[in-house]
Amino acid sequence: MVGSPTGAALITGASSGIGAAFARALAAQGHDLVLVARRRELLKGLADELQQEFHVNAQVFLADLSDPADVERVEKKIGEIGDLEVLINNAGFGVPGKFVDVPPERNAAMIQVHVLATVRLCRAALPGMIARGRGSIINVSSIAAFMGSVRNATYSATKAYLNVFSQALQDELKGSGVRAQALCPGLTHTEFHDHPGYGDYKTRIPEFLWMKAEDVVAESLAALERGRVICIPGFKNRLIVAAIRNRPCAFVVKALAARFNRF
Ligand SMILES: NC(=O)c1ccc[n+]([C@@H]2O[C@H](COP(=O)([O-])OP(=O)(O)OC[C@H]3O[C@@H](n4cnc5c(N)ncnc54)[C@H](OP(=O)(O)O)[C@@H]3O)[C@@H](O)[C@H]2O)c1
Repeated sequence: MVGSPTGAALITGASSGIGAAFARALAAQGHDLVLVARRRELLKGLADELQQEFHVNAQVFLADLSDPADVERVEKKIGEIGDLEVLINNAGFGVPGKFVDVPPERNAAMIQVHVLATVRLCRAALPGMIARGRGSIINVSSIAAFMGSVRNATYSATKAYLNVFSQALQDELKGSGVRAQALCPGLTHTEFHDHPGYGDYKTRIPEFLWMKAEDVVAESLAALERGRVICIPGFKNRLIVAAIRNRPCAFVVKALAARFNRF
């Protein structure tokens, strides 16, 4: 359990996939929720479902985190919550393709959503958490953070930022009662790879390499309890990262990734 279920949780990218799975898990623990994303109907459906099933308060907060003005609205919301106990910076997307072929504004939007929004929301949440002596922040990264793979340049770089940032934050927060984590999932069944640019990626990659969003979230929350800052869910993903860190193996993993990333 993330602390006692007295405080609220704010989750970005809660309308589907890993974010929705976090919302279910935290509602089951008794946390009130603020669900942030752009798709109103999905957020509203999830909020209704969680309120009914777990008797928590679930608010829908529409925001496009690629727009700095919307990020500012979420910062303000964090200030108003008063007892924010959990912040999950999860919103994210992929931009399949070689760096030079991707429209520059898509890469800029990715940096804005993955990095700038995360940094600003952490900064907004931390003073209150530190003052209360409790709180948890999970920044959803990726195993791509460990490898700058082709057709994934900006994505990998933004996720590497989240890993280094979260590790440094945790070092600064030592003794404060506030915890930080970079969650680094591998391939996970969500809407992430539904973007047409990924083509048949979902069926081309063997099923045994994929995880369920619920399992990713369960491992993340368990790792938070153990104080693990970099959480790589799933034994196979930990093996992949270990291979990337070993020079000869890294060459093979990169070659395989380049073969799979044919979008
Ligand atoms: N699935 C994987 O294989 C995988 C692997 C490693 C890491 N991850 C990471 O996991 C996180 C969640 O992705 P997912 O796999 O759960 O994919 P998903 O099902 O596509 O969910 C992505 C979420 O991010 C939100 N989002 C995207 N752009 C946004 C924006 N501009 N403003 C606000 N919200 C935005 C989406 O909501 P709206 O469209 O409603 O705004 C959605 O709720 C991402 O950070 C991703 O990089 C995923």
